[in-house]
Amino acid sequence: MVSMKELWPELEWISDIELREKTAKTWELALERSVLTPDDLQRIPFTLLAGPDLKVSFMDHKRAVVHIARESGLTFNEFFEDKLPVNMNVLIAGAILADVGKLLEYELDEKGKCFQGKYGEYLRHPFSGVSLAEQCGVPPEVCHIIASHAAEGDLVKRSVEAYIVHHVDFMTFLPFKDKIK
Ligand SMILES: [Fe+2]
Repeated sequence: MVSMKELWPELEWISDIELREKTAKTWELALERSVLTPDDLQRIPFTLLAGPDLKVSFMDHKRAVVHIARESGLTFNEFFEDKLPVNMNVLIAGAILADVGKLLEYELDEKGKCFQGKYGEYLRHPFSGVSLAEQCGVPPEVCHIIASHAAEGDLVKRSVEAYIVHHVDFMTFLPFKDKIK
């Protein structure tokens, strides 16, 4: 069984110990309730919306988003400083948790292929993710990132950390789905 440290080495980047623990706990709770195992997460594609040929795994995409979000936050803080400060702990926790709700959204068919289950049809992962995170005591500024990272979030005013996670998520998704060949 893969440990949380092996699944998410990036948890180390959250310097606020309490927030780091709440973030890890949310992933543990999601895995407890999910049909998916950590091994499945290394195998299944990161989205069901980019066709059957997509080979990038769920974990490779999620971890790439966290890495790029962190680099973006550091760049904001270097160039914009106090004019647009980015809270790095909030940003990293939000990026790690943005898709945690997908563990409840997905189900597996008899061949081990993922599909969106009934629960996920009613409650997409921005909603189920907030629910899981709140049960683990994750603060509202981080839940806000989960809530607003996808298209649903276009209807709310986003924090700077949420803007970063939203754009990183989409720039690492849209070219897989649709680009000039
Ligand atoms: Fe998402």
